[in-house]
Amino acid sequence: MKGKINLSCVFCNVKFKSPLISPSGIVVDQEKIIDLSQIKGVGGLTTKSSSILPREGHSPPTVSAFKAGFINAVGLKNPGMINSKREIMFLKKRINKPIIASVFGTKLADFSILVKEISESKPDIIELNLSCPNVDDEFGKPFATDPLLTAMAVIEAKKVVQKIPIIAKLTPNTPYLNRVAYEVEKAGADGISAINTVGPGMLINLKKRKPILSNCLGGVSGPAIKPIALRCVNEIKKTVKIPIIGMGGVETGKDALEMIMAGATLVGVGSAIYQGGFKIFDKIIKEMKEIMTEEKISSINSIRGSLK
Ligand SMILES: Cc1cc2nc3c(=O)[nH]c(=O)nc-3n(C[C@H](O)[C@H](O)[C@H](O)COP(=O)(O)O)c2cc1C
Repeated sequence: MKGKINLSCVFCNVKFKSPLISPSGIVVDQEKIIDLSQIKGVGGLTTKSSSILPREGHSPPTVSAFKAGFINAVGLKNPGMINSKREIMFLKKRINKPIIASVFGTKLADFSILVKEISESKPDIIELNLSCPNVDDEFGKPFATDPLLTAMAVIEAKKVVQKIPIIAKLTPNTPYLNRVAYEVEKAGADGISAINTVGPGMLINLKKRKPILSNCLGGVSGPAIKPIALRCVNEIKKTVKIPIIGMGGVETGKDALEMIMAGATLVGVGSAIYQGGFKIFDKIIKEMKEIMTEEKISSINSIRGSLK
């Protein structure tokens, strides 16, 4: 049965040969993105969030590891939408897998400008990053902490692009997650991705008696946040019908299947790349097939959102 298991899936009408994708911000160098795309277990790739103008980001250290994961405050370093558009055009020529273009705005009106510009590079899906915990928007908080602001960002995006699916990336750092998800769907989004990093949190350099990150605070990712990610994905699944990309602490086949059981169609594997390298994707696929054989699970569709 193992050899026969088919893990391909459809998300927002886009076909993915593997349900595993690389989420935004982990692999950012173009040549490395191309290398990553050649790994069989990688179903699709997300680009670094692009803003209208280039952003320098924070000074190093911007990422630090701890026992149960990572903390980061990169400060959304990116070359700006004109350069990001060119990069995506280049990647589209070199990569034969779906590309999800991530965009980030600090004002609601940014999203129509960003989505219009980036859509010219014809990404397969556009993801609105409404959830970075390290950068405030015009309201002094990430959009996705607030149901109506999230809906307004989606409306801004949908009014300029109809042919490319628009998905909203949500934060766990809100007491209103199901209301946010509800408004995202009502505003016309085609899908949701969740979760962005948790926090912000802080790590301390004991000898220097100061925070490790230059920004002091950063978003937490990796195994530490898996239980929060599973709860969030399941809460979203129970609220909306649009499909979900689930991510947060996935590093094994068991983690990926749990994320699908919680409700995800695609699964993001981010921080695990830092320790496992690009081969982590093939390892997760192999483990998924082994568990599915053992547990007599014939397809991932049969277990999606199937918690008792
Ligand atoms: C160094 C780093 C940079 C990130 N940059 C972005 C980003 O630009 N846009 C975004 O939407 N998420 C960004 N994220 C969040 C990830 O895409 C992902 O949602 C989060 O890390 C949880 O998944 P993981 O535990 O598998 O890493 C970043 C995460 C890390 C660790």
